[in-house]
Amino acid sequence: MPLSNMPSILYGTAWKKERTAALVHEALQAGFRGIDTACQPKHYHEALVGEAIQLSGIDRTELYLQTKFTPVEGQDPRTIPYDQDAPIAQQVADSFEVSQRNLRSDYVDALLLHSPLFPFSHLLSAWRAMEEIYQNGGALRLGISNCYDLKVLQRLHTEARIKPSIVQNRFYAQSDYDITLRTWCQEAGIAYQSFWSLTANPHLLGSDTIVRLAMQYRKTTPQILFAYLISQGITPLSGTTSQEHMREDLEAVSLKLTPDEITQIGKLLLG
Ligand SMILES: NC(=O)c1ccc[n+]([C@@H]2O[C@H](COP(=O)([O-])OP(=O)(O)OC[C@H]3O[C@@H](n4cnc5c(N)ncnc54)[C@H](OP(=O)(O)O)[C@@H]3O)[C@@H](O)[C@H]2O)c1
Repeated sequence: MPLSNMPSILYGTAWKKERTAALVHEALQAGFRGIDTACQPKHYHEALVGEAIQLSGIDRTELYLQTKFTPVEGQDPRTIPYDQDAPIAQQVADSFEVSQRNLRSDYVDALLLHSPLFPFSHLLSAWRAMEEIYQNGGALRLGISNCYDLKVLQRLHTEARIKPSIVQNRFYAQSDYDITLRTWCQEAGIAYQSFWSLTANPHLLGSDTIVRLAMQYRKTTPQILFAYLISQGITPLSGTTSQEHMREDLEAVSLKLTPDEITQIGKLLLG
């Protein structure tokens, strides 16, 4: 039986190049059970993710494994893992076959569209191909990433036969932290995953509120921010390369802030 729930924090595998296998192995040893990757050789070494998972000996059913279809625009033209002249539906199918081989797994727990396509008809062609993968048991959930326009998400939700159940977005001030989009996602039963949670937010990490809470709980400021995100139902990604940070990031899952502390941090997001 595959994992029914998405873990509260995911290990991200971007930009690790030849260190990918070693770092994913360390993350699994540390206790991460959710892994995010993509069929995008420019930023992810998906085959080394698969290698690390196999070497870990952890049963596939104990892992949440998520990958992405990356449209041509997001690929390095020299390393596109499918025929860029093929119809979009074929690109999605071919990319997913590469992911299955790379990850040494027939199925993924989630398949995300790496970014919306324009016009919407192109997005829908990609989504229909993803739905086919879902219907054939290749993906247990479908989602979309880098989708900051609520209208695009709502249109996708309306037109989809298999509804998006995940949005993975950059968590930053320029999008007002997706506050409106996240509220709608909650109502629609869509899980929200955040990246750039630490890198885009030094002002939050350095704020009096978060620094004070870190001292009070004897935790680090990233742990307080991760604990806040998790309290909001957000699933943060961490791509840390440090074993100590892996441990700290996982520890944040069990750190429970009080409702008042959560309100105080929430106010920081309002600017
Ligand atoms: N969908 C998309 O388009 C997209 C885009 C970007 C990223 N992602 C995904 O998100 C994952 C995470 O990427 P990210 O952009 O959020 O950044 P990241 O790769 O997680 O980097 C975060 C930074 O925070 C540091 N860090 C992590 N845990 C820490 C802790 N406990 N204390 C102090 N510093 C800590 C890391 O340094 P250390 O290494 O020294 O810990 C690193 O400098 C990626 O690997 C990828 O899977 C997706």
